[in-house]
Amino acid sequence: MSDSKVTTLKLKEMKQRGEKITVLTCYDYSTAKMLDKAGIDVLLVGDSLGMVLLGYDSTIPVTMEDMMIHTKAVSKGTKKALVVGDMPFMSYQISVSESVRNAGRFLQEAGANAVKLEGGREIACTIQAINAAGIPVMGHLGLTPQSINKLGGYRVQGKDEAAARIILNNALALQDAGVFAIVLECVPAPLAKMVTERLDVPTIGIGAGVDCDGQVLVIHDLLGLYSEISPKFAKTYASLHSTIGEAVGQYKADVRKGVFPGPEHSFGMDPGEIGKLY
Ligand code: KIV
Repeated sequence: MSDSKVTTLKLKEMKQRGEKITVLTCYDYSTAKMLDKAGIDVLLVGDSLGMVLLGYDSTIPVTMEDMMIHTKAVSKGTKKALVVGDMPFMSYQISVSESVRNAGRFLQEAGANAVKLEGGREIACTIQAINAAGIPVMGHLGLTPQSINKLGGYRVQGKDEAAARIILNNALALQDAGVFAIVLECVPAPLAKMVTERLDVPTIGIGAGVDCDGQVLVIHDLLGLYSEISPKFAKTYASLHSTIGEAVGQYKADVRKGVFPGPEHSFGMDPGEIGKLY
């Protein structure tokens, strides 16, 4: 792929060519630089940061201010990937005008290229208004963690015909409202395949099987950094939790033994100069 910026149009062209789209969550400047350099197409500043960075039990307590800080950091570290800011709970539920204002902050203050909202046809008018303001919108269906209290738990959605039909109809409604892509989280693989075939816009799966147009993972799951929950759908490509534990243990032992810092980590001084102080 070229070195030019990833755009929503490019993502649509990737779907048409059958080229899989890679998406990862990202919450800070240094990681953004690494993921961007590795050629990841989309960096999603997910409200999952509430759980993996801030230690909350869910994404519900995450605020606009939390999202602004992390989205700014990711935007600064990104040259090529499309940066998508996740609109947090209650930033787009109160009124359409407040939603447009909050979505605008992601682009104007935090440097994002697009925003993501959770929900189906009930937020179609909000998506249309945000889009009309020139802000690209990514949808999110299936398991929508901001509605965890309504869904009653983190479980697969759309397992029977009626529930699957609702997800399919919501996907079509979001496409009509103007989304450029839709995240499908925790839905059966055959349903994700059908939705993907029925849509012109790309689907991005997480726990939705291999037939989506792209995949997203939480970077902490991919790197084995978050030990509290390990979802069935997450593949762990590294075990940084234990690597970091070993490195920190080694540092502690070196400090206790007095072997860190060594001469190579210390600054010298003319003995005559220090002698004057004794
Ligand atoms: O917040 C997040 O990380 C997300 C992804 C899991 C899609 O919404």
